[in-house]
Amino acid sequence: MAPARPRVRSVTQSGDRSDAFVFFGATGDLAYKQIFPALADLIRDEGFDLPIIGVARSGDLESLKERARQSLADHGFSDAAATQALTDRLRYVKGSDEDIETFRALRRELGKARHPLHYLAVPPALFGEVVGCLQVSGCAAGARIIVEKPFGRDLASSVALNETIHEVFAEHDVFRIDHYLGKEPVQNLVYFRFANSFLEPLWNRDQVASVQISMSEAIDVADRGVFYDQTGAIRDVVQNHLLQVVSLLAMEPPSGHTSVAIRNEKNKVLESIRPLVPADIVRGQYQGYRDTKGVAADSSIETFVALRLHIDSWRWAGVPFYIRTGKCLPVTATEVLVEMKRPPQSLFGEAQPRDADYFRFRLSPDMSISLGALAKKPGEAMAGEPVELLASHESGSERPPYQRLIGDASRGDQSLFAGEELVEAAWRVVDGVLDGKTPLHFYEPGTWGPPEAVDVLVHGDRWHDPVEKLRVPATAAPHD
Ligand code: BG6
Repeated sequence: MAPARPRVRSVTQSGDRSDAFVFFGATGDLAYKQIFPALADLIRDEGFDLPIIGVARSGDLESLKERARQSLADHGFSDAAATQALTDRLRYVKGSDEDIETFRALRRELGKARHPLHYLAVPPALFGEVVGCLQVSGCAAGARIIVEKPFGRDLASSVALNETIHEVFAEHDVFRIDHYLGKEPVQNLVYFRFANSFLEPLWNRDQVASVQISMSEAIDVADRGVFYDQTGAIRDVVQNHLLQVVSLLAMEPPSGHTSVAIRNEKNKVLESIRPLVPADIVRGQYQGYRDTKGVAADSSIETFVALRLHIDSWRWAGVPFYIRTGKCLPVTATEVLVEMKRPPQSLFGEAQPRDADYFRFRLSPDMSISLGALAKKPGEAMAGEPVELLASHESGSERPPYQRLIGDASRGDQSLFAGEELVEAAWRVVDGVLDGKTPLHFYEPGTWGPPEAVDVLVHGDRWHDPVEKLRVPATAAPHD
């Protein structure tokens, strides 16, 4: 138990650069998969030179260095100098996240650092304890914290968690990570929408028939059974990643490119989404999930969900926003398809597919923006065929989101982090369907989820299955 703490908040000046990086859960999965590679990238690309202190219950400094090397090798990181710099800079505090002595040792290890950045790579249930101990030990003074998603388990726990954190940290020192916000193609949604003039007149209920977001993953839950069986697809990716994407697609033009202006507009979108009710969703679970280590034999957790959102705003009233996501689906790809309404008359007497006109934003594994249309087939008949015009395509790798986000947090830049209001507004959307009581339909791995997923579609809409690999035309040779 943390000792009683004074109710005083420690606030950084927004310009203060962090002067030490501390990560709790240093021997855990997140540190291995994301934090070590991100730190190495930061050192190599951005001269990141903060002392790095890992906190964990087991092991010692040598074993932590070895784990860092192993993590980098597994991620194909080959810069020997950056690897050496990372391990040279690593320090280690051994102890439990619930023991105040661990934090006193951390304060000693921090030495002269006055603005540490604490990354809580630990289960959310421990956040309250860690934050309390940070304060009592003096480690919270002048500090910032990064916390992972899911932030809470539902609306009530998220509100309570925010209150606990705010007893110690001011909102502008709290960085809630949603790595989707650090992704290049997600940022491009905002850029493409507002850097061009042609989209805005089309981007509303008069022209858009529906919006569909698919986040399909071919992988199963692998070794994350314990985490996943307390989480499920709605908490794992809908409440955060996918509602963030919805808010960026649907928001009004912000008053400027500031984090506050963008957050305000995103909040308004989430606040105008009607809270989900059971009739809006279909949940699924892949066959074999219950045999996963760490998963209950009678688990009712969903590994798939399809749902329909209603945005009650002037711009979007009546336009369904569909989300479909799951594990063990046929491909790994995330994309947004904005389907446009058909012309009012079928002038050429042909039966036209209703989903011929669309914008496609491909978010992963490759990044592209394209426009689907009908174009005339050569010949006498006025008959068309679907074509796709590619506006941009990147197959190369982007700057990894965690590199970007940890770097931003160390500079106090909140632009790509989820604020308190936004996180709570997102919980409000899903809160009514988190009880696991809506029917659970089983599906075979490698299929597009249970057939019942069509039940959430309206107006004769259909699901668009993303393909594993987009066919991208070779660049045409320039004319002589
Ligand atoms: C994580 C989820 O937040 O996002 C995982 O916990 C999911 O279940 C992952 O696989 C997907 O992220 P990305 O960047 O691979 O699309």
